[in-house]
Amino acid sequence: MISFLVRRIKEADFENGFFETLSNLTTVGDIRFNEYRMEIINRILGDQNYIIIVAEEQENHTIIGTATLLIEQKFIHNGGRVGHIEDVATRAGFEGIGVGKKIIQKLIETSKELQCYKIILDCDDKVIGFYEKLGFKKKAVMMRLDL
Ligand SMILES: CC(C)(COP(=O)(O)OP(=O)(O)OC[C@H]1O[C@@H](n2cnc3c(N)ncnc32)[C@H](O)[C@@H]1OP(=O)(O)O)[C@@H](O)C(=O)NCCC(=O)NCCS
Repeated sequence: MISFLVRRIKEADFENGFFETLSNLTTVGDIRFNEYRMEIINRILGDQNYIIIVAEEQENHTIIGTATLLIEQKFIHNGGRVGHIEDVATRAGFEGIGVGKKIIQKLIETSKELQCYKIILDCDDKVIGFYEKLGFKKKAVMMRLDL
């Protein structure tokens, strides 16, 4: 059985399977070859409204899952907060063992601690069942403008 730990991201994870994990979601490119690499990493890690959770596999200590929670402060709803979940991915070969579920549960817990009144996310039809099992309900539509 594969055991893993769910925790906040740290800088070493960028060299340890984080991007390989994200590539199960979309084309990542390789930030290791980006000249603005440290600027991008520092901007993300330095923003307290940007919460990245990873799953670390306990035998080889590599990253096998990740998701990001963005906290939005609103004027409406009495100055309430909304959690936005983004970039959810389980590393190829590690699906179906509870990694995605543990990470999303952690982000739900974090959103409650930060007094968010709701969590929203966009997803493909093929993963609706995954989120429904975690308590999410399908609502509204997503609009997009490519720039
Ligand atoms: C979707 C994804 C994150 C699921 O992660 P995972 O680690 O494989 O899922 P888990 O093992 O934690 O599954 C939790 C539960 O959801 C179910 N589940 C997983 N993927 C599912 C899917 N696509 N549709 C319906 N149910 C699904 C599992 O069977 C499991 O059910 P159980 O609790 O009854 O046993 C993962 O498959 C992935 O990274 N896919 C590619 C990237 C992607 O599509 N990300 C989502 C972007 S919004």
